[in-house]
Amino acid sequence: MIQPNTSFYNTDFLALHDFSKKDITYLLDEAITMKAMQKKGIPHPYLAGKVLGMIFEKSSTRTRVSFEVGMLQLGGQAIFLSSNDLQLGRGETIADTACVLSRYVDGIMIRTFGHDKIEELAEAASTPVINGLTDSHHPCQVLADLLTILEHKGTLQGLKLCYIGDGNNMANSLLEGAVKVGMDIAIATPPGYEPDATIVSAVMEEAAKTQVEVVITTDPVTAITDADIVYTDVWASMGQEDEQVQRLTKFKDYQINSALCQHASAQFIFLHCLPAHRDEEVSGEIMDGPHSVVFDQAENRLHAQKAILKATMSQG
Ligand code: CP
Ligand code: NVA
Repeated sequence: MIQPNTSFYNTDFLALHDFSKKDITYLLDEAITMKAMQKKGIPHPYLAGKVLGMIFEKSSTRTRVSFEVGMLQLGGQAIFLSSNDLQLGRGETIADTACVLSRYVDGIMIRTFGHDKIEELAEAASTPVINGLTDSHHPCQVLADLLTILEHKGTLQGLKLCYIGDGNNMANSLLEGAVKVGMDIAIATPPGYEPDATIVSAVMEEAAKTQVEVVITTDPVTAITDADIVYTDVWASMGQEDEQVQRLTKFKDYQINSALCQHASAQFIFLHCLPAHRDEEVSGEIMDGPHSVVFDQAENRLHAQKAILKATMSQG
């Protein structure tokens, strides 16, 4: 029986570096428990009467729908707030927005650009703030990814994850998440597209203490060799649309395809946070082939986030 960890109550969920292995394990256990309850039709209204405000400054399918459905399954409600329609879009400060929303809602989820914006929001808000993606982090996605890996591999510790593509928000959060749970990680990017240097150096320091291997390379074969999990993401993230064409050339040798996957472990699983561009960062045969678990992964956004919502918005 997992003991409720009330220390999460009113805690912001902005980046995985703020959480311990024990915290992540607790959230994964909670996600597994509530997933089983939902599949069996057992009600679990831990957030009855609570409201989540969701601010979106970028587009979303999975994040919006999984948070909204998650709040409904937990007995609460979610309100979708597009920044185009908020006074935020007309110059009201993020701090004032946070103070006002805190008077109405019990939690705020935001998808925005700079990570400094979510930090400013969290500083001013009196409710917990959850990161639904910034330019540098996507921690809810990585919690769902860890849940998916655990379900398919039965463990997290001792596995090797490789991420091949752009050193973006996914690469940064995967680095933080993998090292926390004791998973080796290798990242291959074209030169100049490496993950955030500050995050890499913090993660390397932590990895040295726990004997986890972290490799940052420009060689996709080095990264994928013997990998248990093969991961990629789009080559041009939201906000980088102008670079799309230039990036197609720069990243062309970094596609996940059958030839590259010959070097992975025979039982590898393929993950992608989605949305995917078939035949750009991943070939159709891998994306839709037997190793791909991308739709289990997308489903797990719901279950992982319900664990975050329950932990941060209820007292256990
Ligand atoms: N993976 C992910 O965050 O998807 P959305 O952009 O659709 O929310
Ligand atoms: N790196 C992508 C992730 C989308 C879920 C982006 O930021 O657009």
